[in-house]
Amino acid sequence: MSKKFETSAIRTQSETTQFSEHSVPLYLTSGFVFDDSEEMRASFAEEKQRDLYSRYSNPNVNEFVDKVCAMEGAEAGFAFASGMAAVFSTFATLLNAGDHVLSCSSVFGATHGLFTKYFPKWNIECSYFNINEVDAIEGLIQPNTKFIYAETPTNPGVDILDLEFLSAICKKHNILLVVDNCFATPYLQNPIKLGADLVIHSATKLMDGQGRVLGGITVGSKELIREIYLFSRLTGPSLSPFNAWVLSKSLETLALRVEKHCENAIKIATFLEEHPKVTWVKYPFLKSHPKYDIAKKQMRLGGNIVAFEVEGGLKGGKSFFDSVKMCSLSANLGDTRTIVTHPASTTHAKVEPEVKKAAGITDGMVRISVGLEHVDDIIQDLEQALGK
Ligand SMILES: Cc1ncc(COP(=O)(O)O)c(C=O)c1O
Repeated sequence: MSKKFETSAIRTQSETTQFSEHSVPLYLTSGFVFDDSEEMRASFAEEKQRDLYSRYSNPNVNEFVDKVCAMEGAEAGFAFASGMAAVFSTFATLLNAGDHVLSCSSVFGATHGLFTKYFPKWNIECSYFNINEVDAIEGLIQPNTKFIYAETPTNPGVDILDLEFLSAICKKHNILLVVDNCFATPYLQNPIKLGADLVIHSATKLMDGQGRVLGGITVGSKELIREIYLFSRLTGPSLSPFNAWVLSKSLETLALRVEKHCENAIKIATFLEEHPKVTWVKYPFLKSHPKYDIAKKQMRLGGNIVAFEVEGGLKGGKSFFDSVKMCSLSANLGDTRTIVTHPASTTHAKVEPEVKKAAGITDGMVRISVGLEHVDDIIQDLEQALGK
């Protein structure tokens, strides 16, 4: 029986054993025991499916993976210690020396760092397509291109890419589409249903939703995930059972939380758009967003991230940051607490000026991760900070 999103989030559970617990307990164990040498042999030979060692799998991690697969409509997944472990392990599994990746120009700073700092040392090439020039994408595909990499909405520019359009290009050229779906969460957008091959999440963000644990996950077809699993069981970037347990509990309320985050975010985006000290605002579900129609087509709601520019460039931005009272200055996002970040001096400080420009990151740009406080209190804090 196919279940609705909220039901899958709650009712996809690992089986409990001894005490018939209603809520799945924490299996904080590095290894598992076998009845005899034959069971151990058969398990390692994968003739018998069971947990062997927590670097490979663990009941709490399995539950987290099963929940995300149900939410994303994916066949399989592998969970990681962080979003970046998911990004790196996915790349390392898919790519060989001599391959090329075509990525959108606006990507998370650490992902950009992998492309520019480490890819060259492995003889892997990465080039960027401009998010505002998508008609040029096809011409940038090379014979050695392995996949197109896309974030949508992008971090931190909150730009939108048309996933069905990208997937059609990938299918035509027989390459993969890999999507970082962290900003949208599986509640707002399901890239696999729109044609993506692999979907990556930093579970640290809205999946946890309360700023407690790091985690990551990649989901996709059984075949691709099998390759990622084989790489990961050798290299050890796996998610800890404790973090998986926390994340599984959090996913039970993902739909409720994300609905409220989005309700607050659209009100804040509207408030900022009308404020005289704000030069521009980007939020997927504002009519002024250049890709509003695409966002409406592929997302359920606009997400919790709003990007805007304060008048006065770097000075204006700095004065705003030093004036907020309730909102937190932090690099995280997707927390219950509203967080303001200055990408130009933090997450994207090491990104080259031309790449920053292509990604729409200006000196006065602020990224706000709208939390679950009462929206009136968030607006009051932003208003007093903008007033200074
Ligand atoms: C879009 C995106 N992808 C990946 C990551 C990396 O996730 P983590 O911090 O869990 O390693 C982040 C972190 O902010 C992100 O925003």
